[in-house]
Amino acid sequence: MTTTSFLVLVLFLSGAIFFILVFLICFDPKKTILFMYGILKNPRKVGALAPSSPFLARAMAESIDALQRPSTILEIGAGTGHITERIMKKVQNDDCVDIIELNPDYCTVLNKRFGHYDKVNLFCGSILEWKPDYHYDLIICTLPFNGFKVDLVDTMIAHIKHLAKPQSLFCYVALCYLKPFKKLLLSRQDWHNNQLTTRYMQDFNKRYCYKTVKVFRNIPPAQVHYCTLS
Ligand SMILES: C[S@@+](CC[C@H](N)C(=O)[O-])C[C@H]1O[C@@H](n2cnc3c(N)ncnc32)[C@H](O)[C@@H]1O
Repeated sequence: MTTTSFLVLVLFLSGAIFFILVFLICFDPKKTILFMYGILKNPRKVGALAPSSPFLARAMAESIDALQRPSTILEIGAGTGHITERIMKKVQNDDCVDIIELNPDYCTVLNKRFGHYDKVNLFCGSILEWKPDYHYDLIICTLPFNGFKVDLVDTMIAHIKHLAKPQSLFCYVALCYLKPFKKLLLSRQDWHNNQLTTRYMQDFNKRYCYKTVKVFRNIPPAQVHYCTLS
């Protein structure tokens, strides 16, 4: 990539990020600002540049439409609830929704927003510590797999498979267009680790995912992968 095209890309992305961020802040100011604060405090664990946009949230929650009811639904990495809100609009009375979030500040927000729902259960901790004695029909996941080392991703995927019912749906998100920035900013070792994780997720997609949808109206644009874990 030449310096000019790199600069054009940076300018284009900064403009897009600015407009979408303004949109998100107008749409949902308190939660967006709190989420952004969490990113500043712990960028690696949150693994995002901004909360999911309503367009991305809608694409992810669409996976609920394919379910037979009543269903058990698991959301992993709920943040301050941008996707949870969409999920709650789709759930029916007999469905059961479990929400897992690692960051205690985000958990406080989630508890205030969704703690009063009968069928919602919030677990504040790592997904790896969540070991219920039942299994899920649908798992919606926004974990930042691409920021994790491949061994951790492998452990998480194995755990997620264990949580799923046979043939259950798994819907997860991957952020796009970050490769040139990562290549520029990451150390040689981190870049190598990132490549291993990327290859792992590509193999996973080939084996388990039947549909991928690109959502441009998000920071940055994202791919939603719809998969069947069997
Ligand atoms: C990319 S953010 C997505 C947040 C939100 N779902 C959204 O779409 O705006 C990923 C979230 O996963 C959470 N997370 C990271 N590692 C986790 C883990 N091991 N278990 C549960 N949640 C985790 C982070 O705290 C963060 O809130």
